[in-house]
Amino acid sequence: MQTKVLAPTDEAISLAAELLKSGEIAALPTETVYGLAADATNEKAVEKIFSAKGRPQDNPLIVHIADLSQLFEITKEVPDTALKLAEKFWPGPLTMIFKKNDKIPDVTSGGLDTVAVRMPSHPTIREIINKGHLFIAAPSANLSGKPSCTNAKDVFEDFNGKIPLIIDGGDCNIGLESTVLSLVTDLPTLFRPGFVTVEQIESVIGKIKISDAVLNPIKKGERVQSPGMKYRHYSPNARVVLVKGEHCKYCQFIKQNNKNGVFALMFEDEKPIENCLFYGKINDDKQQAKNIFSALRKMDRLGAQTVYVECPNDSGVGLATLNRLLRAAAFEIIEL
Ligand code: TXA
Ligand code: MG
Repeated sequence: MQTKVLAPTDEAISLAAELLKSGEIAALPTETVYGLAADATNEKAVEKIFSAKGRPQDNPLIVHIADLSQLFEITKEVPDTALKLAEKFWPGPLTMIFKKNDKIPDVTSGGLDTVAVRMPSHPTIREIINKGHLFIAAPSANLSGKPSCTNAKDVFEDFNGKIPLIIDGGDCNIGLESTVLSLVTDLPTLFRPGFVTVEQIESVIGKIKISDAVLNPIKKGERVQSPGMKYRHYSPNARVVLVKGEHCKYCQFIKQNNKNGVFALMFEDEKPIENCLFYGKINDDKQQAKNIFSALRKMDRLGAQTVYVECPNDSGVGLATLNRLLRAAAFEIIEL
């Protein structure tokens, strides 16, 4: 199959909507990361997403909508807390989990009786939803287990020849996937941290629970609330190790461990070290989030075998970056 890469012109947007309507899949930009899209109500189309990504069948997909009225078409109940959060954070990088109705097939929800819903703010995916009157199922557009893609070149690397179309909307503004919050648990529960922070959510609906899986590995045999938590994730080919400690100690550590194939992924510094990439200023959690995935992918292109990543803070958007890096590193951490 030939993979077309098109700028988001009116024609390209119409083509994408037609492809999705006819049961095909396509990669689309969103404000968080690129998504691999299909009509969420079409089982055969959704199956194509799972096979193109090599994604386990029990890992459910997020359904993207462009208008609040669409939420009521696919869910059994919408709690008041959801409406308050939607008012504040939609369209944007917040996904909420609801009881689903029959419009959403089991393949889309990974066999669960719930559905994750997000209203993205990116104009391209919104126009495609509106043009095709679609509900778009879209996981991150990367091969399963790999770092998510935040630009069309990275998507092309993973899916050239496997999908008919990539819409190139440039670099994603946020660079990390949406915050995932369940509203079907006793207390609203954070399954995945993202750009919408715990502090921001709590300022609207009060105290929420943070799933243990956000910062800890899943124990053998443990029941997971969100299937995505149990799989290897966000990993480049290189071995990733998180290094925690003061910036000057990190720099010393890197100098001591400098050998062939070893790379540093660190905060900006006036004195660059050999074989290093910067992924943001030391106090800029948003910039770090935006760059981390593309930096991990660059490491593979540079031929890195081991990447020592300077550990981000666990507050604000840093919690999301830390959550992704812990998984990329398979929880291998060095404390200095
Ligand atoms: O920003 C994003 O959320 C991107 C863009 C494309 O919108 N999408 C994305 O999808 O990150 P994905 O499939 O890579 O991650 C969705 C996560 C997975 O960990 C999945 O297990 C969880 O959300 N999830 C989806 N539906 C769920 C449900 N019904 N119950 C629990 N977890 C769910
Ligand atoms: Mg993903």
